[in-house]
Amino acid sequence: MNFPEYRPRRLRRTDALRRMIRETRLSVDDLVYPMFVVPGSGVAKPIPSMPGQFNWSVDKAVDEAARAHDLGIPAVILFGIPERKDAVGSDAWNAGGVVQKAIRAIKKRCPELIVIADACFCEYTDHGHCGILHDGELDNDASLENLARLAVSYAKAGVDIVAPSGMLDGFVGACRESLDEEGFEQIAIMAYSAKYASGYYGPFRDAAQSAPQSGDRRGYQMDPGNAAEAAREVAMDVAEGADIIMVKPALAYLDIVRMVSDDTNMPIAAYAVSGEYAMIEAAAEKGWIDRERVVMETLLGIRRAGADMILTYHAPYAAELLAKGSRRA
Ligand code: PBG
Ligand code: ZN
Repeated sequence: MNFPEYRPRRLRRTDALRRMIRETRLSVDDLVYPMFVVPGSGVAKPIPSMPGQFNWSVDKAVDEAARAHDLGIPAVILFGIPERKDAVGSDAWNAGGVVQKAIRAIKKRCPELIVIADACFCEYTDHGHCGILHDGELDNDASLENLARLAVSYAKAGVDIVAPSGMLDGFVGACRESLDEEGFEQIAIMAYSAKYASGYYGPFRDAAQSAPQSGDRRGYQMDPGNAAEAAREVAMDVAEGADIIMVKPALAYLDIVRMVSDDTNMPIAAYAVSGEYAMIEAAAEKGWIDRERVVMETLLGIRRAGADMILTYHAPYAAELLAKGSRRA
């Protein structure tokens, strides 16, 4: 493999050669589209820090999910912003809550579309933490009981996959046990296994009105310096019955995506979070980067790192480009 006998440029000469040689490809099948559901009807409220993303009332969420489905996107993941918040986030497991309504309505309109529901309490608690607080600390085991309720309420509404995101110890097992007890052994769990305490969640917290009122989430989300700990978290979640393992955020944690995909034989998801979306959109809006190139290159990079699927707010945009036959993917 030495120059001048070997010349790598030989296989880069034409588009056809580059296509034939390409090792990783992005497909619409890899995409999951996150959506924010709010009370009311006829609502499509733009999220300022996430241009092109909206808070949708259930009726509008159904239209948007149908658009994603028509574009060939296999799945959406739903986040809810409730009418009222309280100390424990009890509206989360309300059978008539926004997410439960949206699940029912989307499955009715698009039965084949996979509906995933994020299972956490930060959007539902008045203090903005991901469970019940006890002396200012997240009470892990008490919060698990409510998480179990929440998972079952999603299953009753017809969800396909429950995605617990609070980084509570034992959260996958609590969901699996309660789902199985209630006869929902076919409902899968997408575990936010390696979820880091990240500044990249900023725009999401605006969109979901879920910023903690005091303190931060470093007591339950992972420290950004840790990789071996991610391996332990993943091993726990697999043992507790996770069906899909997620790493989050994506870009700043591609080494973790690579490690997890090398070390486990589970399907791996990576979440390209709100701040990653916002950075690309802001720079593209200023004309500083080429949106199409950067979106496709970023998603491809996440796939190349080992992710089987990508949760991304760019899902409809990328699906449109893929349908046009964008060679950049
Ligand atoms: C809630 C949750 C968060 C995200 C997904 N689920 C935010 C947080 O932990 O504050 C972040 C998603 C994003 O930034 O796009 N547990
Ligand atoms: Zn949360």
